[in-house]
Amino acid sequence: RVSFTMMKKRKMEEIIFPSAEGFMSKTAASPIAFIILAAGLGTRMKSSTPKMLHELCGRSMLSHAVHAAAGVSPHHIVVVTGHQRERVQQAVADIAEELNRPVLTAVQEEQNGTGHAVMCGLSALPEDFTGTILVTTSDVPMLDSATLHDLLDVHDQHPRPAVTVLTATVPDPTGYGRIVRNSNGEVLSIVEQADASEDEKVINEVNSGVYAFDATQLRRSLELLDTNNEQGELYLTDVISIARQADRPVRAHRLDDAFVVAGVNNRVQMAEVAAEMNRRILTHWMTEGVTIVDPLNTWIDVDVELSRDVTILPGCQLHGTTTVAEGATIGPDCSLTNITVGRDAEVVRAHGSDAVIGDGATVGPWAYLRPGTNLGPESKMGTFTEMKNATIGRGTKVPHLSYVGDATVGEYSNIGAASVFVNYDGVHKHHTTIGSHVRMGSDTMYVAPVTVGDGVYSGAGTVIRRDVPPGALTYSDAPQRIVKDWVLDHRAGTAAATAATQAQAETAATEPDNDSAENSAE
Ligand code: UD1
Ligand code: CA
Repeated sequence: RVSFTMMKKRKMEEIIFPSAEGFMSKTAASPIAFIILAAGLGTRMKSSTPKMLHELCGRSMLSHAVHAAAGVSPHHIVVVTGHQRERVQQAVADIAEELNRPVLTAVQEEQNGTGHAVMCGLSALPEDFTGTILVTTSDVPMLDSATLHDLLDVHDQHPRPAVTVLTATVPDPTGYGRIVRNSNGEVLSIVEQADASEDEKVINEVNSGVYAFDATQLRRSLELLDTNNEQGELYLTDVISIARQADRPVRAHRLDDAFVVAGVNNRVQMAEVAAEMNRRILTHWMTEGVTIVDPLNTWIDVDVELSRDVTILPGCQLHGTTTVAEGATIGPDCSLTNITVGRDAEVVRAHGSDAVIGDGATVGPWAYLRPGTNLGPESKMGTFTEMKNATIGRGTKVPHLSYVGDATVGEYSNIGAASVFVNYDGVHKHHTTIGSHVRMGSDTMYVAPVTVGDGVYSGAGTVIRRDVPPGALTYSDAPQRIVKDWVLDHRAGTAAATAATQAQAETAATEPDNDSAENSAE
């Protein structure tokens, strides 16, 4: 009997090896639930923000984890919360809304270890749930749905094991649980850093903290956990040796690409993982036909969408849901968050968020697009210009040194340099409406609320307080005065006075006296 069991066990264990994978037959897919561990404090981050809410490449680590899980379309996702649970639960609710699917939460009152955290997670699942439980953590941000699909495929091979653990071989295994195998390569146990012997510490195949469990087996094994270890915790990793002792098969799925399961425990690791994730995002877009001139100085978030023949010049950060259409050029030095950039647009040294840049529009250099800026096709938002809640029509230009706030401007109009939309009376914001084909002079103030009709012209320095009807000329005619020789009288001895005296002498030498009454001081 013993030898039969041994043989049976051997046969089951052989399927651990990738070389034998071809012999595995796939069993029917079973219901899937995810338990994502996110109760820990993340002490090593030294932060008032819980570790899993720190962001990289446009998502919190928790959000990366939930997105990866959701990509497998599981029946249930449970996030186990503990430290700062109100904040974490709010974040879970936001992610669930974004994904448009339910995500449950469970509470682990005291952090008694990963095994205990999974027990808490199970309490949020239906009691009669049978099938596969995937456990992941909220500090492995590069873990993706494709890897989880592969793990499930390996786990679903007949005979279905008690647990399949995702492992990787790393150059420096410090801090990770080590995968202990026997001479036949069968997985025997996982030994934590704190509990590892010197021999075990040199093992460089590590536990990713990601597993697929048979739900029924998991419940049974968790009851057998104890705290007889260095950290006095209930280790989830002990489920491996418990399954082995119960003659249940255990499988390992070893990844070639260790970065996918790189854990983040401190800010150094977070920067390393962010750099790698960003590098992969850029590689993806370059293979899709985007020119990225300086990949080391370009940051693109996961949810950004780019099209063919987009060019990204050095020093750009594209964040959030920014999209860039075909042929557009961004940079150098742009920082765009949730901005829609149209075809063939050119955006140079611009900073902004929640705005639309139309097809063929040009922006910058040095432009600030605040929320609600909507630049029409072929329009221009020029140098040192700030806009907010402003709709600029097709072909309209705001070329230099202007502030456009709370405004609607029609088509093919020209807003002169140094114009200000005076939208704030100290209490309320007001709107300015300007028509099409207007030619507004430089240094015009639009004191809102005010309306300027189609085809209006205005003089330089106009303060527009009253509505201007279509086709009118408007100007402010405060008199210009000239006080002759004021500089000579009041600033004698200055360079200006000397220059003026010299110019007067030269004029007197070449021209007769040209004094006239109109130019005299009053
Ligand atoms: C854990 C594994 C280790 C593995 C590593 C991979 C155990 C005992 N060790 O170690 O084998 O190599 O992950 O990154 O499982 N958590 C809770 N409640 C707790 C304790 C932890 O929810 O009581 C959560 C944490 O928030 C975190 C995850 O579980 O998301 C892992 O905890 P952490 O303390 O980072 O474990 P490691 O020491 O990294
Ligand atoms: Ca960890």
